[in-house]
Amino acid sequence: MNKVNKYRFGIPVNTESIVESMEIADEAPHRVDVDAQNRTIRYVMSPETVVMGLGESIRGINKRGWIYESNNTDQPHHEETVRSLYASQNFLLIWSGSDMFGLYLDYPGKAVFDIGYTREEDLTVTLEDMNCDLYVIEGDSLEDIVIRFREMAGHSYIPPKWAFGYGQSRWGYRNESDIRNVVKRYREAGIPLDMVYLDIDYMDHFKDFTVDDQAFPDFENFVKEMADQDIHLVPIIDAGVKIEKGYDVYEEGIKGDYFCKDKDGDPLVAAVWPGYVHFPDFLKAETREWFGDKYKYLVDMGIEGFWNDMNEPAIFYTRNTLQKAFEKLIELTGKELDINGYFELTATVGSISNNEEDYRSFYHEIDGRPVRHDKVHNLYGYNMTRSAGEALGRNYPGRRFLLFSRSSYVGMHRYGGVWTGDNSAWWSNLELNIKQMPALNMTGFLFCGADMGGFNHDTTEDLMMRWLEFCIFTPLMRNHSAIGTREQEFYQFEKTEDFKNLVSLRYALLPYIYQSFMTAVTENRMYFKPLCFDYTSDRRVAEVEDQLLVGDAVMIAPVYKQNASGRYVYLPEKMKLLRFRSYCDYDEEILEAGDHYVKASLNEVLVFVRPGHRLPVCIPGKSLADTDMEDISYITFD
Ligand code: GLC
Repeated sequence: MNKVNKYRFGIPVNTESIVESMEIADEAPHRVDVDAQNRTIRYVMSPETVVMGLGESIRGINKRGWIYESNNTDQPHHEETVRSLYASQNFLLIWSGSDMFGLYLDYPGKAVFDIGYTREEDLTVTLEDMNCDLYVIEGDSLEDIVIRFREMAGHSYIPPKWAFGYGQSRWGYRNESDIRNVVKRYREAGIPLDMVYLDIDYMDHFKDFTVDDQAFPDFENFVKEMADQDIHLVPIIDAGVKIEKGYDVYEEGIKGDYFCKDKDGDPLVAAVWPGYVHFPDFLKAETREWFGDKYKYLVDMGIEGFWNDMNEPAIFYTRNTLQKAFEKLIELTGKELDINGYFELTATVGSISNNEEDYRSFYHEIDGRPVRHDKVHNLYGYNMTRSAGEALGRNYPGRRFLLFSRSSYVGMHRYGGVWTGDNSAWWSNLELNIKQMPALNMTGFLFCGADMGGFNHDTTEDLMMRWLEFCIFTPLMRNHSAIGTREQEFYQFEKTEDFKNLVSLRYALLPYIYQSFMTAVTENRMYFKPLCFDYTSDRRVAEVEDQLLVGDAVMIAPVYKQNASGRYVYLPEKMKLLRFRSYCDYDEEILEAGDHYVKASLNEVLVFVRPGHRLPVCIPGKSLADTDMEDISYITFD
């Protein structure tokens, strides 16, 4: 039984997140209670109900016990008490024993999901206005429901094969000699590498589609020099276009009327890296076409991959928020501050960035009509990446490009992947990475990963290594960190040999990783699954959130605690444990179903092969081009 019912309330914006056309049911929704007056959708959970979904969000795989907001935010604190991160994927999978169903709420404004936060048994979704499409998806299993949802939303994006290699990134590589040095050190250490990412430093004054010619005097040749060493350079593109007379992207944007407008009809002025910028109106088809074509500037110089950033959109400040802060400072100057004055001061200065008032102050043009930004806020990053994806498809038919984004919404999964933004070098953020992956996969985002080792703050060698051990399995495998933090390229650490063996293990497992990814794309399935998807009769597995199924043959149990020399693992059935130190150095052991304490030294990865399956392994090279993915041997478990 794979039935979907679509219900409509008010006059929703057409987000194009769902590609299948469907009749709108005229009866009242089943499964949930909708109170249009109070803008709420409510479901009563039983004590055993598990609620999964919400894509890139905070906390566990089971979302019960917290309040989440779909409100794409430049949020560098990935802590359990925040409510929103950079993405909104309003899909829920509600599972109460033999009864289960999916909910997809196609609503691009702010939606609040109170999942047992106010009242233990209440799941209440509250919208800003009642203009939305609601889909209720029935199925016989959790995976069935996901497949049905994904059929509606369209197939996921496929990157080029080399994008499954390992990539080094860092905000702060200043010029070509910095990058040459990174590649040289990796090659000298024998650690495989396929990509080096270019952060904002490569641009001329942070202007999109420019290259700083002091730092890169002959960029095209440099791209080629890197390509000759099997290295793909992957530049960042930011959402904001610098306001600067004579800068072609700015001039064309003004001339073509491609920018978002303020209430007076002038292009909105907001500040990000380059200072004051205008934001392209990606919700307007003409803007998407124009901006997307701009990627050609870099593709023509040999670039084949991009990461789209700051596209919530992030706003450092506007004239309005800045003015208010200055006025407050003047008002308080010379005064002795009591506690209220002190709070007022910090609150005013602290609210200049990503201010809700600013998001209510500008407009998009959708089908010729003005629409206030906050009503469609969560569609911005999606449409920036769609603009790139559509243009690359149009201009280079049949070619695959690497493309991923920070901000997203369901629908964007057809054009690119995501990385999970500015996490921190915390063990808790490694754990979060493990839990976010299956939730993202449910909603179609298969090509995804986090900043390995942590973006903010100084990492440690053991955190880096444990994080790498998990990222061996994430389709997007990237080491990225912020300027000013400890350098975390693998050759910077003492145990370089272990890092080499672990990255090489990723390459050895690529035949399996790639095949499992492609199966997930073509069959609308998940690459990472919680255990309860396949072991439904065992209620205990619903509580196992730190072990994941990867493809059909493998279960992983990453170690994510500092100073741990192993961990507890729950096996829902008998499995073969492989304790890898490198692709050719590992122990094997058959473990019965049940609880086990499994040892895993810092340089060891725990991989479990499921009965009746086999794990293909190839010989890793220094890059993907240097790795023969056809020449494989198998580790089997009958
Ligand atoms: C944002 C991105 C981060 C990048 C930085 C500078 O914070 O999320 O990845 O390094 O901007 O471009």
